[in-house]
Amino acid sequence: MTRKSNIFWILTSLMLCVGARSRLRTDFYSKTCPTLFSIVRKEVRMAIKNEARMAASLLRLHFHDCFVNGCDASLLLDGKDGEKFAFPNLNSARGFEVIDSIKEAVENACSSVVSCADILAIAARDSVFLSGGPSWKVLLGRRDGLVANQTGANILLPSPFESLDRIIAKFADVGLNLTDVVALSGGHTIGLSRCALFSHRLSNFSGTGAPDSSLDSRVVPRLQAACPTDSDGNNTVPLDINSRDSFDSHYFENLAKGRGILQSDQVLFSSELAISTTRDIVRLYASDPTAFSNDFANSMIKMGNIKTLTGSSGEVRGNCRVVNS
Ligand code: HEM
Ligand SMILES: *[C@@H]1O[C@H](CO)[C@@H](O)[C@H](O)[C@H]1NC(C)=O
Ligand SMILES: *[C@@H]1O[C@H](CO)[C@@H](O)[C@H](O)[C@H]1NC(C)=O
Ligand SMILES: *[C@@H]1O[C@H](CO)[C@@H](O)[C@H](O)[C@H]1NC(C)=O
Ligand SMILES: *[C@@H]1O[C@H](CO)[C@@H](O)[C@H](O)[C@H]1NC(C)=O
Repeated sequence: MTRKSNIFWILTSLMLCVGARSRLRTDFYSKTCPTLFSIVRKEVRMAIKNEARMAASLLRLHFHDCFVNGCDASLLLDGKDGEKFAFPNLNSARGFEVIDSIKEAVENACSSVVSCADILAIAARDSVFLSGGPSWKVLLGRRDGLVANQTGANILLPSPFESLDRIIAKFADVGLNLTDVVALSGGHTIGLSRCALFSHRLSNFSGTGAPDSSLDSRVVPRLQAACPTDSDGNNTVPLDINSRDSFDSHYFENLAKGRGILQSDQVLFSSELAISTTRDIVRLYASDPTAFSNDFANSMIKMGNIKTLTGSSGEVRGNCRVVNS
């Protein structure tokens, strides 16, 4: 191709990208639901006051929604073939009642205009902010999907047992790069994990007869005590040891010390592949909280843009748990 036609194609694809992106807008509901932001903020604040962990649970809902069929609130649909029953969500994803309360309060103020997918995006932002983290302008105008995808949830959501290359690939599949992988993993600066998802690291890891060598041996006894071998795996520990409810960059300091709880956390710093991919980003965030805050906000906006339904696609659900009849 000539230089000129190259430039033509670059400009055309740039315009297409911008066109696709700009379908979501920060002021989407400014006329139709001007009180939306204050209503969601108030509801999220109440929920967190009642239980600090709820901030983490709401943040995770937006992530698990966006990775499966895009940010379309498909995760919220009830039913035995729903995403709620996929392995990554079963007995794990929580906060659905809080989303119901927010939706009800929003419906009371402005009926049938605000999508459940947008409520998830705003609730995630507010949860981070109210936990002491950054804020950002949430892009809005998503519509709700008509189907759940349980198989998709099983295939597309990253697992804590996966290697770094698989995790990177799953993020790449939805258009997220290495910066996004590390920044968004920083969501684990709040919330809890069940023992079942990391206890394989505490003894005879991969048949070595010893705990995972990338795990700081000083925290092993504490984790073993929290996860007795005869328990059912449902006990929980903070994902960010010593800083469980505050949204800060302490999670990355922990990774640099071998104190990541999940195998999928620690590989960001300790795996062979991390050396050429994610380790320097972990180091950056551990030493520069502002860099983490800025990148996290940007990556959340990117994640919130995954395959959104806009215009007249999908619908605005009246009840987040069921499609409109
Ligand atoms: C990188 C791949 C990821 C993996 C493998 C992963 C895996 C997990 C696992 C296994 C848990 C514990 C679940 C349980 O105990 O049942 C968890 C919790 C959590 N995850 Fe992730 N996650 C990843 C990325 C993310 C992202 C991108 C976010 C958000 C930006 C996020 C936010 C959270 C939060 C806030 C919790 C705590 C939830 C609560 O306490 O209710 N995770 N994650
Ligand atoms: C569910 O997700 C899988 C994996 O991405 C995809 O192949 C399939 O088309 C999706 N199904 C529906 C109904 O969206
Ligand atoms: C990831 O994408 C963002 C823009 O969305 C960019 O600023 C950042 O440099 C990229 N990171 C890597 C490692 O390519
Ligand atoms: C560790 O696991 C390996 C294989 O999974 C097994 O052969 C070995 O006996 C185990 N060692 C201990 C100390 O339990
Ligand atoms: C954990 O608790 C859930 C109910 O909250 C239960 O269904 C499940 O069987 C428990 N897990 C294990 C491994 O026993």
